[in-house]
Amino acid sequence: MNIKEFKISLKEYKEEELNQEEKGLMENALKASVHAYAPYSNFHVGAAVLLEDGTVILGSNQENAAYPSGLCAERVALFYAQSQYPDIPVKALAITAVSDNFSIDSPVSPCGACRQVIAETEFRHQKKIKIIMKGQTGPVYIADGIETLLPLSFYEEKLQKKASQ
Ligand code: THU
Repeated sequence: MNIKEFKISLKEYKEEELNQEEKGLMENALKASVHAYAPYSNFHVGAAVLLEDGTVILGSNQENAAYPSGLCAERVALFYAQSQYPDIPVKALAITAVSDNFSIDSPVSPCGACRQVIAETEFRHQKKIKIIMKGQTGPVYIADGIETLLPLSFYEEKLQKKASQ
């Protein structure tokens, strides 16, 4: 038996250390959170997607009384981006959240399903996506691609192998 270890590294910044593009994208993510529909969790998530051509797309979580029918902010923004601008790669994604019930003082990181969708978006365009994560206060985390957040992810090549067996 072997133990395989995977090393991941994130960059941690103070808010004031972000560059203009990162700061602006995070401000857009916060703006997006205002339009969250979150009557069940009271957790208002905002996501801002920056495309290679400079277009910015906002998304927020949209909940539903039938809970699984709702969708996370990241996927709302990414799916909109991919449906409206299918040929333009995604450069960066900023995520933040505001809760009605408590202060969020550590970075909001995407859920597993959103990580999978980010992975597919990278794969589709063969381009890494910078993921910028922040709470209401506290540090900002930046991952230079989804591999940091989703090692050993499920990719299309696994499907091909299955099909040829
Ligand atoms: N949520 C997001 O929008 N993004 C995440 O990465 C984590 C969770 C939403 C889903 C649900 O509406 C609420 O936050 C509480 O889980």
